[in-house]
Amino acid sequence: MCGIVGGVAERNISDILIEGLKRLEYRGYDSAGLALINQQHVLRERRVGKVVNLEDAVKTSQITGTLGIAHTRWATHGKPTEDNAHPHLSDRVAVVHNGIIENFEELKNTLIQQGYVFSSQTDTEVVAHLVTEALKTHATLLSAVQSVVPKLKGAFALGIVHADYPDELIAVREGSPLVVGVGIGEHFIGSDQLALLPITNRFIYLEEGDIAYITRQDVRIFAHNEHEIERPTKELDATVSHASKGEYKHFMLKEIFEQPEALQQTISQALNGNALREDFLQHAELDFKQVKQVQIIACGTSYHSGLIAKYWFEQLIDLPCQVEIASEFRYRSPVIVEHTLYVCISQSGETADTLAALRDTQKRAKAKGLHISSMAICNVATSSMIRETDHHLLTLAGPEIGVASTKAFTTQLAALMLFILKIGQVQGKIAEHVLTKMIEDLWHCPKVLLNTLQHNAEILRLSELFVEKQHCLFLGRGTNYPIALEGALKLKEISYIHAEGYAAGELKHGPLALVDNDMPVVILAPKDDMLDKLKSNMEEVQARGGELFVFADEHSGIAEKDRQHVVKVPSISHWLSPIIYSIPVQLLSYHVAVLRGTDVDQPRNLAKSVTVE
Ligand code: G6P
Repeated sequence: MCGIVGGVAERNISDILIEGLKRLEYRGYDSAGLALINQQHVLRERRVGKVVNLEDAVKTSQITGTLGIAHTRWATHGKPTEDNAHPHLSDRVAVVHNGIIENFEELKNTLIQQGYVFSSQTDTEVVAHLVTEALKTHATLLSAVQSVVPKLKGAFALGIVHADYPDELIAVREGSPLVVGVGIGEHFIGSDQLALLPITNRFIYLEEGDIAYITRQDVRIFAHNEHEIERPTKELDATVSHASKGEYKHFMLKEIFEQPEALQQTISQALNGNALREDFLQHAELDFKQVKQVQIIACGTSYHSGLIAKYWFEQLIDLPCQVEIASEFRYRSPVIVEHTLYVCISQSGETADTLAALRDTQKRAKAKGLHISSMAICNVATSSMIRETDHHLLTLAGPEIGVASTKAFTTQLAALMLFILKIGQVQGKIAEHVLTKMIEDLWHCPKVLLNTLQHNAEILRLSELFVEKQHCLFLGRGTNYPIALEGALKLKEISYIHAEGYAAGELKHGPLALVDNDMPVVILAPKDDMLDKLKSNMEEVQARGGELFVFADEHSGIAEKDRQHVVKVPSISHWLSPIIYSIPVQLLSYHVAVLRGTDVDQPRNLAKSVTVE
């Protein structure tokens, strides 16, 4: 997804902008550009492809400046070409933009009639021309921007500079995240604080509708109604600044191996010995007591963790739970039932569809006078989702850089289980001994996960058998059915092999027709009530010449044989098995992708944080 960096300082900031863009590369993009103001001129460089191309261009042209904006673009309106790359110019204005301006065509037609000439196919360029136009009747850059923003429909963030205002950076947040990095005698903006961590750890988080007027000495923020408002400056803990691959070849591998620690962190915040901490989600107790059903809303990998939570909610604490993909949920006007708890699951907390589904539900419930509550399970403490829900539980996975989600997923599962235990306890729906046993198993989980990671070399060997394949099936039952979906998603997103995840019981209803010598079938086989049924499904595959790759509980009795490869997974309580069985499918996808030579951390066409629809 697009990234914004900008700054105003006394020193040349071209290197800072480039470094900031590099730190946003993980979000996925297809072109990059920057504009600097120098002696009342706008100097611009843009390049298709990686930030390093832009860096080379800036080195060659040697452009410098103390005020500037930069951008990585993930094409939405118009192809990934240099002309469409940001910043976009109009006369002496330069603009970078994240998100979408929905009414750009209408605005563009009016601007064309007024004589403006467009040099790109983007929705962004209208903003640059609108600012130029507004400056004909407004005395300052700030008031010109303030007059333009209400004309724009959609969700967006903007960074704007003008050659005649060499000490002014204007930032707008309207539905797409933007932070201000506070320095000494210099200030910066970034669509993600990660971009600015090398230069500051002090941030002002803009709120929806904020317009920031930023100079070297000052940050002034104006709300919708143009009244100046105060926003606190927050200092970040130094530990969040770890964003390097260290000894690992890819962020994804590093993040896979960070899971025992991430899990431990996430669990520790909620547990005290063999009990839930007294203060754990204490503020939510009243709402939890009244909850009659749960509606989970999420996208991608986060949706898969929701699917697992459904089994847990219903089997463990007898609470009805529905799960839906946010992009469907938001447009279907689902019936709002009083005392429903809406749970948004999201790594980033900024996913456009999930946020829109939440906001729409809150709005409709309010209009109907229905009491509902909302909760975010999220990895980013400063995200919109956390701010806009009644309650939240953080997954303490640390920054996740690889586009394919790994540690965020397993920590989401741990967080969901903890929160289910809490509701169960508050509603008196979980026996004390069940709660104690589950907590014991949760504490044990990081160790089991660590032991599972020991099978890395074995999984690497198996991955060699996938390199030439075109298709792959993943099968599981119960809580490992969503892991089959997740395994298929992981494989397709980073290795570009077509993969499908199925509930093993559905095999005979279609996918069995695909099974032949060339179709690897991955089986998730924990030791649970469904194991015998799963073994029958394996027979069905073998009888059709399929090759089985089984991740099986060490005590499952499933052994290696011709065309049946088995990786023994350490035993774990059946409740928590999806956390553990995530590991082999992550490792398998990772190794297959590396062997196929794909861009593992930034797979083609995908983005880490999908902040547009
Ligand atoms: C993108 C990412 C996925 C992620 C999904 C939902 O598709 O590539 O890894 O699962 O968005 O993102 P969220 O931040 O809401 O979990």
